[in-house]
Amino acid sequence: MKYEKIQGPKGVREYLPPESAAFEWVREQLIAPAKAAGYQLMELPVFEDTNLFTRGVGESTDVVSKEMYTFEDRGGRSITLRPEGTAGVMRAVIEQNLDRGQLPVKVWYSGQFFRAERPQAGRYRQFYQVGIEAIGLDDPAIDAEVIAIADRGFKNLGLRNYRLEITSLGDAQSRAAHRIDLMAFIKKLDLDEATAKRAEINPLRLFDDKRPEMQAAMVKAPLLLDYLSDSSRKSFELVQGYLRAMKIDFVINPRMVRGLDYYTGTTFEFVHSDLGAQSGIGGGGRYDGLMEILGGQSLSGIGFGLGVDRALLAAIAEKSIPAEDFTSDLFLIPLGESAMEMALTTAQELRAAGIRTEIAFGDRALKGAMKAADKSGARYVVVLGDSEISSGNVDLKRMSDGVLTSVKITQLRDQLRQALSL
Ligand code: HAM
Repeated sequence: MKYEKIQGPKGVREYLPPESAAFEWVREQLIAPAKAAGYQLMELPVFEDTNLFTRGVGESTDVVSKEMYTFEDRGGRSITLRPEGTAGVMRAVIEQNLDRGQLPVKVWYSGQFFRAERPQAGRYRQFYQVGIEAIGLDDPAIDAEVIAIADRGFKNLGLRNYRLEITSLGDAQSRAAHRIDLMAFIKKLDLDEATAKRAEINPLRLFDDKRPEMQAAMVKAPLLLDYLSDSSRKSFELVQGYLRAMKIDFVINPRMVRGLDYYTGTTFEFVHSDLGAQSGIGGGGRYDGLMEILGGQSLSGIGFGLGVDRALLAAIAEKSIPAEDFTSDLFLIPLGESAMEMALTTAQELRAAGIRTEIAFGDRALKGAMKAADKSGARYVVVLGDSEISSGNVDLKRMSDGVLTSVKITQLRDQLRQALSL
């Protein structure tokens, strides 16, 4: 009987060798600045009570209304695969009383998120984010720090072709004043039922409507930035001043609408110019009412989510990935049984010294093993045969130019550490 092959799920990106090394590198580079700034890891479930997202992320958003993977579990509960990370962090902070301790709570996370979007390049149904949240402090300095951490992550990747867009969605007072004028403006537009309903829940959503007729209709709409209260304006100006002081370039985009409803105050997006339609490589902002909506105290927070898949595409487009960092330093080719024993023990010693060492396994002839070494991209190759073992000397072959250096086996570790500047 011949079984049919089973295919992976649609719209899901998988990372296999050799590309997975670049993926891992990108993720580590994006996380490193958060760790360096004292953010601590939070590992959270990939599924949560559906209410967490309907209430936290908002029903006017595409994410909640069209894109959630929701199912009933065996106990009859409505469960949703997390479409984003902030609501889950808040849920955990409230549930574990972290908000009653030292503030701000500063955490980072990394993992898979799920949105049932129409798949295309850079837009997947399962995608990866790294994110941070700083909860419990309403201070423009922390807004600037959060943005700086994201920016440093992208700089770590060697990216240049991106811009940082920022705006402020103000405080409740600013939004209330703006909402009156915006609703009056929207009332005059000829909207279909679904759009009118969305506008009723969150009128700012209409700025995000991609249909050309809606874009045209919104050109003259009143902008929230013109309605900022004195304290919101001052706070936004301070954020800009801090960013300038840290030499972080930005542009103000008063029409920016984030895809999630919880945002208030400072909001931002990183947009890459080589990625086509899915150009958002990261975004975030302040969410001053979220904790309360989720049943906690009234504390504010700010954070970001960076798209690892898209950051990888950006790094590939900008050719900024140091591929040589992902390959082995040394490929050891043992010929025969006693050579294998020596290869195993030597590899132990070299790896302990930080030298990435691979062994050619299997009873391959020298030619085949050399081919494998070449393919692996290893920087050096050593062949261990009977004559090497009896003489105690090996030829260290540098793969970039084929140069051979005779080295005592006992000196191999030091010689390699020097050559690799370890
Ligand atoms: P978001 O803007 O929805 O924000 O997502 C952040 C990033 O995730 C996007 O900029 C994009 O790079 C990536 N991303 C989103 N959807 C997809 C997809 N379908 N395929 C590939 N990449 C995608 C949030 O999720 C907020 N939780 C960020 C945040 C944290 N705000 C405050 N704290």
